[in-house]
Amino acid sequence: MVPPAQSPSTAAVNPSAAGGRQLDRFGRRLHDLRISVTDRCNFRCTYCMPREIYGRDFAFLPRSEVLTFEEIERLAAVFVAEGVEKLRVTGGEPLVRRNLPDLIAMLAALRRPDGGPLDLTLTTNGSALRQLAEPLRDAGLGRITVSLDSLDDPTFRAMNGVDYPVAKVLDGIAAAGEAGFSPLKINMVVRRGINETSILPMARWARHEGHILRFIEYMDVGHSNGWRLDEVVPAAEILATLDAELGLESVPPNYPGEVADRWAYRDNPGEVGVIASVSQPFCSACTRARLSAEGKLYTCLFGVDGTDLRAPLRDGSTAAELTELIRAVWRIRADRYSELRSEATTNRPRIEMFAIGG
Ligand code: GTP
Ligand code: 5AD
Ligand code: SF4
Ligand code: SF4
Repeated sequence: MVPPAQSPSTAAVNPSAAGGRQLDRFGRRLHDLRISVTDRCNFRCTYCMPREIYGRDFAFLPRSEVLTFEEIERLAAVFVAEGVEKLRVTGGEPLVRRNLPDLIAMLAALRRPDGGPLDLTLTTNGSALRQLAEPLRDAGLGRITVSLDSLDDPTFRAMNGVDYPVAKVLDGIAAAGEAGFSPLKINMVVRRGINETSILPMARWARHEGHILRFIEYMDVGHSNGWRLDEVVPAAEILATLDAELGLESVPPNYPGEVADRWAYRDNPGEVGVIASVSQPFCSACTRARLSAEGKLYTCLFGVDGTDLRAPLRDGSTAAELTELIRAVWRIRADRYSELRSEATTNRPRIEMFAIGG
């Protein structure tokens, strides 16, 4: 197994605009917008929303503070006009937001200025796909990624924090396939001592089903999960485990800046990916912006503070004014948290994963 070349570290370049596109301080353009449509979730994954902290009394955003579908659509239109080519709808759990297919239809109607296809996709825990996969497909959703951390029922129930049976998520995944979402991507967060033994069974299952499985290194997002470095299973170790049994070879990225490193099976169809944000940070090619459910713009998953877009939106700002605001935020962007990960940065305040959508 020959590992791919290491991605270069982020290096400062002169801030400038290329081809009319605003670049940030490291010369990165804005390519993806991840839209969180709610901060709520029906799961309490131990690494994201531990039940002890996010109990019955936890104050999620009141409805008046959450962007309406019309507000999301207006902002998304501005981002697409600015050159965003991929919209990923996230949460919390996006499918707990009522009438989500209506928003998908609104987003699917947006057009890129260059006439190219807009990649419209969604990340979900899969629990509501039996009811919603078909309406989402009909509304124009292009792709779905489902989070699934184990096929072993007791392990899965413990990790999702609400004793949710794995069979129901598998049924949701089947429903997505029946609705025409294929191939599906499956995200598995790997935590040492918790679900490492699920790596091979998950790989065998995904290969058999034709899903693209991505292993995610457990990250220190937010403050609630009590993250420790020794709970991270490095991607190299995951790949060695897979390679020993299934035989892997490196595959080039689908596009520059793809989050997952891709690997194909040597003797079989199918591929897996590893998202090595801790052991091999990929900030140098990070072209992602994140919009929280309350309308704040974050330029890093580990952001401390977002820029409020809701107030200008509700105060009647024009598309041109919103564009200028977004460009001004992007122009001064210097985020590269994963490259800088250290005591100094891991202790500073930052946004929780469920509030920004992963
Ligand atoms: P494709 O559009 O299918 O290529 O998906 P993607 O690679 O954008 O995947 P997805 O949105 O499913 O991201 C997978 C996971 O990677 C996320 O849930 C995060 O855990 C992690 N991730 C995504 N983007 C970033 C990022 O910018 N920084 C860090 N540190 N992690 C990220
Ligand atoms: N580390 C890595 N991945 C995480 N996710 C949520 N919290 C973490 C974390 N601490 C993943 C979820 C889902 C996606 C939205 O982010 O499992 O796949
Ligand atoms: Fe919910 Fe996803 Fe967070 Fe789990 S990881 S608690 S499913 S938002
Ligand atoms: Fe992008 Fe921040 Fe993740 Fe680096 S840590 S890849 S800058 S979101």
